[in-house]
Amino acid sequence: MARADVQIAESSYRRCADKPAFYEAFYEHLLASDPRIAPKFAQTDFGRQHRLLKHGLGLLIIYAKRPNPALIERIALRHSRGDTDVPAELYAFFGTALEHALALHDPEYGPEVAAAWRATLEPGIAYMVSRYEDRPA
Ligand code: HEM
Repeated sequence: MARADVQIAESSYRRCADKPAFYEAFYEHLLASDPRIAPKFAQTDFGRQHRLLKHGLGLLIIYAKRPNPALIERIALRHSRGDTDVPAELYAFFGTALEHALALHDPEYGPEVAAAWRATLEPGIAYMVSRYEDRPA
């Protein structure tokens, strides 16, 4: 992946990551986007979840620069069939919710930023999906 893509996504992340409204927009969109999704978050403390997503996005950006599975293994197993059960097809909704939140909260958002995020998250998402059938140790 082009290093420029990661830099563009990382700058976009810095413009959004400390705004509570960014995470509110993200989860509002994600939960409404498919009937399988909201029930998974029925017990979620969203204040905590916003911090966890901030951290998780940061890790996926680092993973794009240096794909060390140890960085995101715990997050991957948290989404496996035996835990929160997030199959491959639900990740598209994650991408759409992210684009929605970025469009609202990143003043520099546009096609270039959107494409850079897609390229940056792709390796981490591919890894998460590859661990779907695995169980936490
Ligand atoms: C790149 C994509 C994703 C990232 C980076 C991500 C990140 C995270 C992180 C960091 C956590 C917290 C893990 C922990 O408990 O320590 C989490 C939990 C969770 N994620 Fe994701 N996630 C992604 C995709 C998804 C998708 C597509 C769904 C469902 C459609 C989903 C549903 C959940 C649920 C239900 C939880 C547990 C919430 C709770 O503890 O109440 N995630 N995610």
